Amino acid sequence: MFSRTVIRSATRSFSTSTVALNHANRAIAYTQNGDPAEVLNVITYPKLSPPSPNTVNIKFILSPINPADINTIEGVYPAKPSWTSDLASSGWGSKGKQVYVGGNEGLAKVVEVGEGVEGLKKDDWVVMDKPQLGTWATSRNVSFEDVIRLPATGLTEAHGATMTVNPTTAYNMLHNFVKLNQGDWVVQNGANSAVGQLVIQIAKALGINTINLVRPREDMAPLHRQLEGLGANKVLTYDELNDKSLRGKIKEWTNGKGIRLGLNCVGGDSTTAMAKLLGQDAHLVSYGAMSKQPLSLPTSLHIFKNLTSHGFWQSNWTKTHSRAEKEQLIGDLATMMRDGKIKAADHVVVTIGGQETNEEAIEKVRDVFSRMAQGKFGKKVLLRLEDFSG
Ligand SMILES: NC(=O)c1ccc[n+]([C@@H]2O[C@H](COP(=O)([O-])OP(=O)(O)OC[C@H]3O[C@@H](n4cnc5c(N)ncnc54)[C@H](OP(=O)(O)O)[C@@H]3O)[C@@H](O)[C@H]2O)c1
Repeated sequence: MFSRTVIRSATRSFSTSTVALNHANRAIAYTQNGDPAEVLNVITYPKLSPPSPNTVNIKFILSPINPADINTIEGVYPAKPSWTSDLASSGWGSKGKQVYVGGNEGLAKVVEVGEGVEGLKKDDWVVMDKPQLGTWATSRNVSFEDVIRLPATGLTEAHGATMTVNPTTAYNMLHNFVKLNQGDWVVQNGANSAVGQLVIQIAKALGINTINLVRPREDMAPLHRQLEGLGANKVLTYDELNDKSLRGKIKEWTNGKGIRLGLNCVGGDSTTAMAKLLGQDAHLVSYGAMSKQPLSLPTSLHIFKNLTSHGFWQSNWTKTHSRAEKEQLIGDLATMMRDGKIKAADHVVVTIGGQETNEEAIEKVRDVFSRMAQGKFGKKVLLRLEDFSG
């Protein structure tokens, strides 16, 4: 395991310009599971060698921190991080040390292409096709088959950086469980989450209406403005689920047509109450468990309303679908983004500057994670790691 002491001495020894140039790369990495605010470190490693056949050197532009990344570092997520064998030559990850670079998703630019690589050239924007590649880094060497090229124009960096997890999840959940027609209604909780914001926008583009449930807060007006601005038809708090007049209101909004799809990323009592709003033959799709409470569904909903309850995991979809299908999905989403139908979820960019020492970088990274744990950002955090020049 590398310790902060090791990193300190490493930083000091890399302080001459020659060494700094050789150690131009940085990554946010860990050697043991635990609280990210305690176990994450920042490491430097040498410039990448020219790519070997069938591989490309890529430089990351922006990489998000998703809830699943935190669970992966904690060691409680089913997907396990890849061992970073390509960093072994730098001294990190050698001698049996397991070093993992954080991050599953990200936007990168191709900087150099190895022999035999097809369909990619310098400066292409790419996203990851292999899970847990370790995207919180400046540059990595990867197999060309582990990345997918993004369409060239019309996307922002934030669109690209957040393409493969949340928009794909929202799109698939709206398409793969029940056939929805224009004018149909969907109900979802965690509606202000990044996935929720994508559900609202994709549903609107498809002509589908949404009822959006969120946690109550003192001033609801900004959240109403934000979600309605994205196309939300109705925004309610979980407390309002207890309002006895709600069913009548929903009947009015939907013209009596039963809601056929419910999307759940929260669990607990409010999800039980949400499921009761669903109509005949509806589908409840659970994709997250933010409240950490179990999901409990009344038996009567299954018997009398023929409710079907599913789980959805985008990683499994990615594993079980062909490259052509994945490219098609990303292409469809990119078109919607380019046409202005999908804005990237509300986000903030945190930059680890090239001049910052590793100590400063570690402090900044750990502070980001501890503020995230306290819910202080309220929006998606995207990391930008500049080349190390300190
Ligand atoms: N299954 C899949 O393939 C898949 C794909 C993508 C995401 N996900 C999951 O979907 C969920 C949302 O992901 P994201 O990236 O969209 O997250 P995000 O943008 O970070 O949003 C987190 C959401 O969770 C809510 N939340 C946090 N703590 C909560 C609690 N104790 N009780 C109720 N709500 C709580 C937040 O509401 P406040 O604003 O009120 O705090 C916010 O709406 C996560 O569980 C993630 O792992 C699953």
